[in-house]
Amino acid sequence: MSPLHLLQFFLCSVCIHMFSIFTYLVYYYDLFTSSHEAQEKYDFIIVGSGTAGSLIADRLLKETNYTFIVLEAGGKGHPFHDIPAFGPLLHRSVFDWHYETVPQENACFAMENSKCKQTQGKILGGSSKLNNMIHVRGNVSHYVDWFHGKYTKEYIEEHFNYIESNIYPLRNIQYDSQLSDAVLDAAKQLGFNELNHQNSLGFQKSLLTQNQGKRWTTSDNFDTSKYVLTNALVEKLIIKNNKCLGVQINYPKKVKLFAEKAVIISAGTFNSPKLLQLSGIGPAELLKSLNISVVKELPVGKNLQDHVGTGLDLVLFDTSQSVGMFDMMNFFNLYKYFVNGVGPLTTPGCEVVGFVSTKNETIPNIQFMVLPVGITADRGSHLRKSLGIADFVWDNYFSKLFEKYTTTFFPLILHPKSIGEVKIKSQDPNLPPLIDPKYLSHPEDLKTLVDGIKMLTKLLETDAMKTIGAHLNKNHFPGCEEYDLFSDLYLECYVKHLTLSSYHPIGTCSMGTDASQSVVDLTFAVFGIDNLYVVDGSVLPTLPSGNINAAIAMMANIFIENTINQFNLKTNQHMCSRNISFEELFLNVCPVR
Ligand SMILES: Cc1cc2nc3c(=O)[nH]c(=O)nc-3n(C[C@H](O)[C@H](O)[C@H](O)COP(=O)(O)OP(=O)(O)OC[C@H]3O[C@@H](n4cnc5c(N)ncnc54)[C@H](O)[C@@H]3O)c2cc1C
Ligand SMILES: *[C@@H]1O[C@H](CO)[C@@H](O)[C@H](O)[C@H]1NC(C)=O
Ligand SMILES: *[C@@H]1O[C@H](CO)[C@@H](O)[C@H](O)[C@H]1NC(C)=O
Ligand SMILES: *[C@@H]1O[C@H](CO)[C@@H](O)[C@H](O)[C@H]1NC(C)=O
Ligand SMILES: *[C@@H]1O[C@H](CO)[C@@H](O)[C@H](O)[C@H]1NC(C)=O
Ligand SMILES: *[C@@H]1O[C@H](CO)[C@@H](O)[C@H](O)[C@H]1NC(C)=O
Repeated sequence: MSPLHLLQFFLCSVCIHMFSIFTYLVYYYDLFTSSHEAQEKYDFIIVGSGTAGSLIADRLLKETNYTFIVLEAGGKGHPFHDIPAFGPLLHRSVFDWHYETVPQENACFAMENSKCKQTQGKILGGSSKLNNMIHVRGNVSHYVDWFHGKYTKEYIEEHFNYIESNIYPLRNIQYDSQLSDAVLDAAKQLGFNELNHQNSLGFQKSLLTQNQGKRWTTSDNFDTSKYVLTNALVEKLIIKNNKCLGVQINYPKKVKLFAEKAVIISAGTFNSPKLLQLSGIGPAELLKSLNISVVKELPVGKNLQDHVGTGLDLVLFDTSQSVGMFDMMNFFNLYKYFVNGVGPLTTPGCEVVGFVSTKNETIPNIQFMVLPVGITADRGSHLRKSLGIADFVWDNYFSKLFEKYTTTFFPLILHPKSIGEVKIKSQDPNLPPLIDPKYLSHPEDLKTLVDGIKMLTKLLETDAMKTIGAHLNKNHFPGCEEYDLFSDLYLECYVKHLTLSSYHPIGTCSMGTDASQSVVDLTFAVFGIDNLYVVDGSVLPTLPSGNINAAIAMMANIFIENTINQFNLKTNQHMCSRNISFEELFLNVCPVR
């Protein structure tokens, strides 16, 4: 590194460490000070305060008199953590589960030990506290298929309308770089329209789940302090005679909480199957191998799918396309953000999304996400680590780009054919599960991504992109030196090395009609177990045609609306006549059953 780049690295590292120390302080402050009141029995127990869990809680609270509690393994963030531009700093922080894949056989070769990171939020608000806030509905016909025709297209559209007017404030991106206009022009030159709500082909600037420039998650809709227990890891379900009675949490001692009507698992695509498997619901072979007695055999953890992509720092410029980190962190921008909700701090990272078909069809098979910065922007102080880029790749490829300005045109496969699996590796609820997405194990996926890069090169050949000086990164990717640059074989090698998750895992507790193929039925109920539901990304049986958060919120909204209608309101006889603290629970002042 040249002295200048070394200085930049040093300054970035200092800023990032300061933020990280701040984040630790927030985390420990919450851990030690939040005084939680809890009953031992509720109508509903919700596991996880993410997109789905918080939406369900919000509507239960506002529309019913049911009692409920949300149990969240992560801690509570600070308003600073809602600043959109800081989102990436939460990756690999104390608010991330620090999950990663097992070594991949066909992918992730550019990462340490061929393992791709699988960032997921461990924080009040869940993964949408770390995400890019992009809101797209996807292709609604696919959701009709998920319900096997139980609901019409119109019914599902009504639910999208509901969340778009009651749950999420939506806002067009209001601060973006010159790059995003150039990309829209380039797309037009290639014959793509600007997108509207119909998800056909085309490009558009990002529509964001933001309120006044602030990141907005479903947990921001209600007073979480009264209804969410943070730092409460649910370790196991309590199941008797095929009925779920409650959960066991570690807080910090083991406590049991009981649910009169239902336990709703909204722990996300990796943790929901983990919790079911720990509780004896899953593939019999797996459970037996771990000495867990089989409560119900179901294909829990199977059918894992993700929007896999590629293409980091592949498009270079001689001038900067975005506000640099140091320009961003000035007082004026903080003022603009906190007072007016505008300015560079509101950036979602991804400014433009595009849906294209590499097969000249009318249905998209690739989505592009365009970001005006690449991972070399911080000189290796954080982004590199959050992806786990291996040394030989960093030293021989990315660190050579410091003289340039890098950007990210990220093509991802909308409907990949590769299917993977999540399974626990022990009875210990504190250990991460084994995550094997089997990225690019299906040859068609490899071809689709190669075609995606070819599409990108076409975009770069347009006048609009040439005018702003866009050019391809012509450095050979380490490990692919033997192939001619940008030949098919080279691109295959490139994609297998620089495989990237868009962090859209789904499918591990699939919805369906058949217990041999799926885990929940069309009412989100776990097959064969009473009073137990799964509602989150894991129930999506196939990937939406676009970013998945809106689809997850739509599903949660369908679930809660039907649940409110299904149960009759009635007052409960509580075992404790008053609310008790957890300290009292430990002391058995009001005994736990
Ligand atoms: C980096 C990143 C960027 C993304 N960008 C976008 C985007 O721009 N647009 C988009 O549409 N989607 C995006 N996504 C995807 C989207 O945000 C997630 O798919 C969605 O938030 C998942 O919602 P969920 O309810 O299924 O789970 P989550 O929101 O992950 O919630 C699960 C919650 O359960 C908690 N939990 C887990 N296990 C336990 C347990 N045992 N006990 C107690 N609590 C537990 C977790 O801590 C977490 O808070 C992105 C995701 C990531 C990670
Ligand atoms: C909840 O209880 C209050 C007070 O008893 C009552 O006024 C209200 O109608 C109830 N709400 C519902 C949805 O039943
Ligand atoms: C949505 O998907 C269906 C089924 O795959 C397809 O027929 C339809 O053309 C798609 N619609 C759009 C707008 O892409
Ligand atoms: C399962 O239990 C048996 C007998 O109790 C023991 O021998 C074996 O080591 C256990 N296996 C695991 C994976 O814990
Ligand atoms: C794409 O399809 C259209 C209509 O089906 C056809 O007219 C056009 O030539 C095709 N383009 C390419 C590049 O194959
Ligand atoms: C217990 O707490 C809940 C939620 O804070 C409250 O609605 C309820 O009235 C309390 N019950 C008693 C008996 O204090």
